[in-house]
Amino acid sequence: MSEGKKQSEKDYHESFYQRDEPLPEITVEGVERNLLRPCYEGNGDHYSENRGAFHQLIRRYGGWEGKRVLDYACGFGDFAVYYGLTGAARVDGFDIAETAIELARERVERQGLADRVHLEPMDASALRYEDDSFDLLIGHGVIHHVIKYPHIFEEMHRVLRPGARAFFVEGLADFPLWKLHWKIKGEVPEGDVPIFASEIREKAAHFSDVHVEGDTFFHSAKRWIWRAKPGPLRRGILRTTHGIDRALFRVFPPLRRWGSFSYLVLTK
Ligand SMILES: C[S@@+](CC[C@H](N)C(=O)[O-])C[C@H]1O[C@@H](n2cnc3c(N)ncnc32)[C@H](O)[C@@H]1O
Repeated sequence: MSEGKKQSEKDYHESFYQRDEPLPEITVEGVERNLLRPCYEGNGDHYSENRGAFHQLIRRYGGWEGKRVLDYACGFGDFAVYYGLTGAARVDGFDIAETAIELARERVERQGLADRVHLEPMDASALRYEDDSFDLLIGHGVIHHVIKYPHIFEEMHRVLRPGARAFFVEGLADFPLWKLHWKIKGEVPEGDVPIFASEIREKAAHFSDVHVEGDTFFHSAKRWIWRAKPGPLRRGILRTTHGIDRALFRVFPPLRRWGSFSYLVLTK
C-alpha cells in the first residue's frame, strides 16, 4: 500500500467528516434508541440492529463498565462518548481523520467528559499507546478499511492487556452475493476492501482465540432491500429474511460461516 494511496483515502475521510455546525450532543437514550431499532420493524437503519446485537455480545463477555476502553477508528466518537457516559473508567479513541477528531473533541469538552474520554488523530498501523494499555477494544465497521495496512493486528494485540479482548462488527464478503458485489464494485476511493473470515484468522493468528460469528444470511440482502421505498412491502421482506435466518441458524448453525454482518472477538 503506497503512502500516496493512503493519503488519498485519508483525504476522502477528511471530506466525509467536514461539517459547518458543531456535532449534536450524544445522549445514552439517543444511542440506545438507535441500537434497539431493528430494520425489520421498519426503524433505524439497516446496520443499527447489528450494532445492537454486537453490544449485547460485548455485554455477555462482561461489558465495558469500570474498564479502560479503546474505540478503534472512532470517527466522530459517538460510541466513545456513549461508553464514557455508561460506566467505562476511561475511553481512548483514535481516527486517521483529523477533521472528525477535532469536532468530536469539541463535543467531548462541551459535554464535560474531557477527564474520561480522550480522542486523538492516529493511524491504526502505528498506535501511540503503551503496551498492555486496554481492557477492551471496540471497532465499528473499520476492519474492511484498515486490513490492507501493515501491523494492524500486531498493534491491536500489543496495546491490549493479557487476556483482554477486541470486538468488531463488520460486513464479511464470505456471503456469496457480497463476494459478487465486491467483484462488480472494484476499487473504491474510500479504500474499503472485501474481507473474509479466513483472512482475519490468518492475520490475527497470534491472538489466543479468534471467534467469528456471522449473523445474517438471506437477511444480508437488507443492504440492498433497505434502499427501496419504505413501507409495508419492504418491512414484510425484511421481516421474512430475518425470520428465515433465525430459523436456519437454529437448525444449521454452521451456516453462520457464510454470514455477512458478523462479529469478531479476538482474545489476547
Ligand atoms: C466506516 S467508518 C466507521 C467510523 C466509526 N467507527 C463509526 O462507527 O461511526 C471507518 C473509519 O475508519 C477510519 N480509518 C480508515 N483508515 C484508517 C487508519 N489507517 N487509521 C485510523 N483510522 C482509519 C476512517 O477515517 C473512518 O472514520
